[in-house]
Order: sequence, then C-alpha cells, then structure tokens
Amino acid sequence: MKGVILAGGLGTRLYPLTKVTNKHLLPVYNKPMVFYPIETLVNAGVEDIMVVTGGPHSGHFLSILKNGHELGIKHLEYAYQENEGGIAEALSLAKDFVDGDSSVVILGDNTTDYDLSADIKTFKDGAVVFLKEVPDPERFGVPVFDKDNPGLIAGILEKPKDPPNNFAVTGLYIYDSKVFDFIDQIKPSDRGELEITDVNNHYAKAGKLGFKELKGFWRDAGTFDTLLEVNNFWAKKAESKK
Ligand code: DAU
Repeated sequence: MKGVILAGGLGTRLYPLTKVTNKHLLPVYNKPMVFYPIETLVNAGVEDIMVVTGGPHSGHFLSILKNGHELGIKHLEYAYQENEGGIAEALSLAKDFVDGDSSVVILGDNTTDYDLSADIKTFKDGAVVFLKEVPDPERFGVPVFDKDNPGLIAGILEKPKDPPNNFAVTGLYIYDSKVFDFIDQIKPSDRGELEITDVNNHYAKAGKLGFKELKGFWRDAGTFDTLLEVNNFWAKKAESKK
C-alpha cells in the first residue's frame, strides 16, 4: 500500500497567511499541518509516501520534510502540480509512484486521530471512503447510501444545497489501482477542477464504493475557523497527555 498526501492548491481562503507559505505548512499547535496526515500514514505502517504540492512556496516542503526519515517515512517522493486543477488531477501525478499498487490518499489539510491500520490490512479492491457526522454537511461531499447493499454508497453529492444526511465524506480514501483509469475518464467540473467526487462516483456506479464511519476526531483546516478549531483540538489533546 502506497501513501499519497495531496497538498497542492493556493489556499486562497487563508490569505494573507498563505502569501508567505503553503497552507499545509501553517502551524497546527506545535507542528506544520502536513505532519498530521503524514503521522496518520506512518502510524498505520505505510512506508512509501508521495507528497503532491504546488504553488509559489512548494520548495518549503523540502526544507522541513527533507527525506522524511525524521518523521519515520522510509521512502519519500514529491510531485509538483502545475495549476490548481483539482484533487483528482493532483492524485493523477502519483500514478507512476503508485505503480499498480493500492493507495491510501489523504488531503493535506485533513487532520484526524483515527487509526487506519485495520482498514489498510483488510482492504481488497474497489474504494473505501471514511464518513464523519458533521453539523455542516453542505460544505463537503455527502454520501447517498445504497439501500439494497448495506456497506456500499450509491453516489456522492459534492457540496449539496440540501444534504440528504449529516455525513461528510472526509479527505481520507483507499483505492485500488483502477483509480487512475477513472481519473482519465472524468472531465473538469463547473469550477474547472477534476473532482475526486467524480472519481468516487465511478466506483459507486461499479458497485465498488465501500465506507467506514470514522471514529474519533476529524476536521479539515481550510478556513480560519476550522484552522483555529484544529489548533485547539490538538493543543488540548497534547495537554491531556502531559
Ligand atoms: O475535506 C474533505 C472535502 O475535501 C470533501 O468532503 C470533498 O468531497 C472534497 O471535494 C474536498 O472539498 P474541498 O472543497 O474542501 O477541497 P479543497 O479544494 O479545499 O482541497 C482540499 C485539499 O486538496 C487541499 O488542502 C490540497 C488538495 N488539493 C486541492 C486542489 C483543488 C490539491 O492538492 N490540488 C488541488 O488542485
């Protein structure tokens, strides 16, 4: 199983902070944001990791992550995303790195204390997404459950105005090697991006989109409010361990 962290984009929602560095290198309590998804992968036993990044501050990743050994990564690679072409476009850059294996993919602004080890061990084929109940599902991908096949998702609605339930599709995904064929088949959305939701919907159509409810903490940190929220969560968690 290969690990891929998607940390491209310009992070414009966090201007002016992201004028000086990449969003995923902003502090979350006592370390840069991207350390959290890296630790999620390393703690789950993933040894080969690719970080996909882009934008004017992409060089900053190399100064802090170097070869990854200090963070427990055995083998670290980088890819550069030229434009903000979407999450699925960023993932497509990892095709040669994944090289026909399965991959566990985490969005670089997602932090969680969930342990992926068991899901990685039991993964066979298709795709698995991780769901979390949230108060604001309209900000996320929202699943439509398959009534005839418990355990499967029939489709995902991206940021629906009228969400059918309160679950968010989090930015953690496990894919078999078909993910790159599905990325080749999708077209840019109205906002001009290759959407990961369209990729997931190809799996759903094939009856291969499973899900797990994510137990524990999960939040993305793409806005000032959620950035503050995740900082507070990780600070409190560190305090409780003292
Ligand atoms: O956080 C979970 C949500 O992430 C999901 O519920 C949605 O289905 C999914 O589309 C995504 O929604 P966002 O609108 O929050 O994604 P955003 O554009 O903020 O991008 C999230 C991360 O993905 C970002 O921190 C870095 C990576 N990314 C994004 C884009 C657009 C890239 O690496 N390259 C990109 O071009």
